[in-house]
Amino acid sequence: MDNRPIGIFDSGLGGLTCVRKVMEIMPGEDIIYFGDTGRVPYGTRSPQTVVKYVRQDINFLKSFDIKFIIIACGTASSAALPQILSEYDTRMIGVLEPTAAKAVQLTKNKRIGVIGTAGTINSGRYLECIKAIDPAVEVFRKACPMFVPLVENGYTHGEVARLVAEEYLLPMKAAGVDTLILGCTHYPLLRETIQQVMGETVRLVDAGAETAVYARELLEKNQMLCSRKYGSARYYVSDSISGFAELGSSFLEQPIDGSVNKVEIEKY
Ligand code: DGL
Repeated sequence: MDNRPIGIFDSGLGGLTCVRKVMEIMPGEDIIYFGDTGRVPYGTRSPQTVVKYVRQDINFLKSFDIKFIIIACGTASSAALPQILSEYDTRMIGVLEPTAAKAVQLTKNKRIGVIGTAGTINSGRYLECIKAIDPAVEVFRKACPMFVPLVENGYTHGEVARLVAEEYLLPMKAAGVDTLILGCTHYPLLRETIQQVMGETVRLVDAGAETAVYARELLEKNQMLCSRKYGSARYYVSDSISGFAELGSSFLEQPIDGSVNKVEIEKY
């Protein structure tokens, strides 16, 4: 048993889709969440810049006595893992491996689509992870840079979201993928629109949620789950805290219940 908190971070609010699942399947865990809202998006930045940001995000979380870190950001996981693992003594996981493993498990026709930020797609890491599990799987990739601003501005349903989704996804649909990885933790908020465009039979794989499931397995295997029944969450952001509770609750699918504080992330 380990009652220390789990640290979870993202470039912004997207990682809250992972927090939501952690709260559902590990309700006893305490959570420290960091959203780098002052520097979002990561998806359009160079890998070097993202790695620098990721180090600071981890250093900040490590200023608490945490037991485990979830990098709940596709872009950060793609740019920084696995090399950054060796720099820290804290156990941590990113979203790529658990999500790729789930998609390979789900696909029947061995045609998997991956959508994510430009950083995630250009890194080629999802392709590598899927091929490492099953080289026979065909992978179709598409960067969807307009999805994050749509989500952050609340355009998750309606005509605008549908048109943008069609622009990005119709070629993927035509390619006949039966499984689509939502490789950015913002994208589950567009789930209904994406499902409509792709058709009901295509399985959508939620990177944040799958990673939470994998984190639970790892913690259980290593006897690191906590002994509490109910945990609490504390939230930190690098920009103004105003608006966080309102927008954050749409990612979390429940009201933000916990303190929200601003952190000077450049100091870490
Ligand atoms: N949530 C981030 C991810 O999963 C995307 C947002 C960004 O571009 O920073 O990649």
